[in-house]
Amino acid sequence: MEMSVPQRPQIGSLPLRFGYSPADQAVWRKGDGSGLEYRSLGLADASQGLLDAQLVRAAKAGVRQGWYDPSDEFHYLQVLAGSLTLRTWDGERLTLTVGDAVVQPPFTLNPDVYEYSDDYEALEFASKGSFEHIDRFREKHGLTRTSEAPKEAVITHDTPETYITGDGPRSFFTYRDLGATAASNRRMHIHVVGIADQPPGGTGWHTHSMDQFFMPITGWLDIWVEGLGKVRMKRGDAMFIPAGIRHNVTEFTRDYTVVEACIPTDYDTLDATDPAQD
Ligand SMILES: [Fe+2]
Repeated sequence: MEMSVPQRPQIGSLPLRFGYSPADQAVWRKGDGSGLEYRSLGLADASQGLLDAQLVRAAKAGVRQGWYDPSDEFHYLQVLAGSLTLRTWDGERLTLTVGDAVVQPPFTLNPDVYEYSDDYEALEFASKGSFEHIDRFREKHGLTRTSEAPKEAVITHDTPETYITGDGPRSFFTYRDLGATAASNRRMHIHVVGIADQPPGGTGWHTHSMDQFFMPITGWLDIWVEGLGKVRMKRGDAMFIPAGIRHNVTEFTRDYTVVEACIPTDYDTLDATDPAQD
């Protein structure tokens, strides 16, 4: 696919380049003999190493040593299929199933051993770096910390009560907060977005002041991105759009849901002109 999405001077919080990682071109690499396979979503390259995102899946049920790299400043995991059982520092067994998500600051969950089912699949975000770009962005815009990062992992579950209609830029979407906002000190907001009401002909052309990452979980959407054209995205297709890049979501299926990361948490959404009329 031709990619001539404009490279603008940095206006978001990350030095992010546009990126698209379709599921039908996925490269899965074998793990370390544990039976897990990994698919990089390309975010590390696009963000110059500040953030990373990957899908992980099990080729067979198993047990793995080492839950995550404790040097990660921020770690997020969302179960997309199957289940994962891990132990807390207190020795408690904790099982995460489809839709459960965990945000963990360093050293909060026991990195010793975890078990996964044969159909396990999850999305992970990690920050290896210091998030200093995001901190600088926040200072520049006078954003203050409204909460201190929790010392414990934050676990959320996919239940109907966790979805709030209109709790985001669009009144016709419903939003489930996945708990990253406080854990990241408002540097990243992660939510699942679904359709509450029939959208009035899509979102229209718009931009955000944040950098965003998103990947459909169910259903599909048609998105137009300036310089790229129209893409139909379905489960496992991941896209990252830098701040200021015009886009327009014109069509969704009724069962459409997407996981989206907004970096930083606080941002504006502005209507934009159709690039075809430039
Ligand atoms: Fe958008």
